This record gives sequence, structure tokens and C-alpha cells, in this order.
Amino acid sequence: MAELYIGLMSGTSMDGVDAVVAEFGKEGMHLHGSHSEPMPAAIRHGLIELTQPGPNEIDRMGELDVQVGQLFAQAALKLLDKAGLKPADIQGIGSHGQTIRHRPQVRSPFSLQIGDPNTIAETTGLTVVADFRRRDMAAGGQGAPLVPAFHQYLFHSEGLDRVIVNLGGIANISVLRRDLKAPVYGFDTGPANGLMDAWHQRHLGQAYDEDGHWAASGTVDASLLARLLAHPFFALPAPKSTGREDFHLEWLLAQLQAHGQNLPPADVQATLLELTAQSLATAIHGQGLNEGELILCGGGAYNKALWQRLDAVLPGFQQRSSADFGLAPTWVEASAFAWLACRTLQGLPGNLPSVTGARGPRILGGVYPG
Ligand SMILES: Nc1ncnc2c1ncn2[C@@H]1O[C@H](COP(=O)(O)OP(=O)(O)O)[C@@H](O)[C@H]1O
Ligand SMILES: [Mg+2]
Repeated sequence: MAELYIGLMSGTSMDGVDAVVAEFGKEGMHLHGSHSEPMPAAIRHGLIELTQPGPNEIDRMGELDVQVGQLFAQAALKLLDKAGLKPADIQGIGSHGQTIRHRPQVRSPFSLQIGDPNTIAETTGLTVVADFRRRDMAAGGQGAPLVPAFHQYLFHSEGLDRVIVNLGGIANISVLRRDLKAPVYGFDTGPANGLMDAWHQRHLGQAYDEDGHWAASGTVDASLLARLLAHPFFALPAPKSTGREDFHLEWLLAQLQAHGQNLPPADVQATLLELTAQSLATAIHGQGLNEGELILCGGGAYNKALWQRLDAVLPGFQQRSSADFGLAPTWVEASAFAWLACRTLQGLPGNLPSVTGARGPRILGGVYPG
């Protein structure tokens, strides 16, 4: 019987829990099922509040930890139901949890994901691997991004250089040189959907800018763009990672106020989209790469306007969707955490020191037996 693993992921967009059941072989992965469990508004609101310091954090976090664990467990159970599988068919679950604070730059760097794995193990009866990031940090790494090892496994080609672009709330890249001996590099490049979602919600009352239509209707403001690009994160050398702590609505509002002019909201959206495109292009060119293939994944891969701008700022690259390789953009990151759980349960490392800066490869996560 094939070994099947579940991956559960909710990223910085906090739009919902993406869940997959997958099988991993030498020739690649086979997706046996997928499900997205929307994030209830009350939980999302509580989580966003926890991304910034505030009063009574421990009580608020403690309860949300259990609620998010229940949500993740529901995602796994609905996934199994949809896929026509039983818990007994599954080897284990890899649960990323929900990041509420990621601080790689402080004196004692830390990263905190919640979504109680005990609750997930108890509800599903399955072994859960969780808390993937902190071992890498204990070994001196950023704890992020963790998807590049999976990208290497799934997308490496000996024929051409590839850059995998994961467009979540934050964007991260994996640089996969055709030469298998070359180390894989990867890091967060800055905001992707996060700021665009927040601005769209504020002005149009909906969660995101479908296909980037609104952004495409606006005009980029060069001086606002330069101001946004002056954020110190963009100039940091890799390894580096970021999150809502650096790029959030209040930061954007402060930049707009400092900018002074009252811009039409659509122009701000166009500028935010351009910020994503240009910061990605600078990061990729900064790797000395001027041609190859760009493989887009994450929800932002559905943003047609972003697709067009990336085409313009990275002219040497042929752009493709992960769907061309048999895995829709929505499911790539959840699949990575299913794969990481498989690695851990097989006693294999999951991090890439060339990416995170850790002292060495490490077996990631804590195991919560089913
Ligand atoms: N059709 C679409 N057009 C534009 N943006 C989209 C579309 N579908 C999804 N998205 C974007 O993708 C985001 C979710 O992406 P996801 O990969 O789940 O990010 P995260 O890992 O941060 O949760 C949404 O918040 C939205 O901004
Ligand atoms: Mg998401």
C-alpha cells in the first residue's frame, strides 16, 4: 500500500487552511485529494491582532491555538471524506500551523506558529508533525523559507535554471540551478498578496483583487514606489525572511501619509503590485540569473496583472504555472508540508542550510503520535 501524507497549511494571507493528501515517490508526487477550509472571520481577526504586540496576549493566544487546531483538524477530516480515504490510510499529517509572530532579527530570534497539534492528533487519530521552523532557528537559521527543499524535489530540471516563485501573503523564491551540485538558494523577497489584500479590503470591502483587475486599472506612482522600496528589508542580504510584522496595513498607511499626495486608491493598488514585481525581479537578478523558467505558485499565481508585470520586469524568463507540472498553485505549499512530515517521520532532514543559514541539515518538527 502506498504511503500517504496529509499537509495542512495556512500562510500569512490567513485566507484559509489548504489541505492535501499526497504520495511521494522518486519520480515525483501524486496528489490523492485536496480541500480548502475557509478561515472564519472571527478567528482571522483574532489572529491578525496577535501579529502585533498588544495586551493579554497569552490568554488570547492560548484559546486561538486550540481553535486553530480544531480548524486544521476539520480541514483534514473533510479532505479525507472528499478523497474517499480513512485515517487508517494515512501515515501522518504535516501541519504548518498559523504564524502569529516571526522575528528572525531580534537578539534571540524566534518564530511562533499556533494550531495545537495535540488537538489535531486527538481529533483525527493521526500522527502529527508540527512546529517545523524552530529547530532550524535553534541551529542558527531563519526557520524560513522551508519550501525550497520540496521545490527542488519537485521542479528541478537538468535542462534549465528555474526559479520557483511562491506568491502568498509574502513572496519567496527558490533558485534551482540546472547543475545539481550547485546549492539551492531561496529567501523571502517581500510582500506579495498581503498588502494588496489589505488595501483592497479597506476600499472595496472584499478579501482580494480578483485577477488583479483593480491594480490593472490604476497607474503606478513612481515616488510612492521608491518610498516603499526603501524599506530596509529589501536591502538585507539573504538568508532573510519576513512577515506581517514588517509589512502590514499600518505601515502602508504611514508611508502614504509621509508621501503626502492623495492618490486614487487604484493607483496605490497598482503601486503595491509593482512593488511585488520589482522586488522579485531585483532579487532574482541579484542571484546573477537573467534567463530560465519562472514557475509561479501560491494564490498570487492567479493574479493576471501580476503575471503581466512579472513578464515585463523579468524578460529573460519564460513564465509558467505550477499547474503545468501537475500541481495547481493553491496546493504547492500544503504539499510541501506533507513532504516535510514524510521526511521527519523517515528520520530525514527537511531544511536547506544554503537557504535558511542554519549550521546544518536538521530533522524538523515535533511528533505528536496518533
Ligand atoms: N484569482 C485571484 N486573483 C488574484 N489574487 C488571488 C486569486 N486567487 C487567490 N489570490 C490571492 O492569493 C491569496 C492566497 O494565497 P495563498 O497562497 O493561500 O497565500 P498564503 O500562503 O499567504 O495563505 C489570496 O489572499 C489572494 O490575494
Ligand atoms: Mg492561504
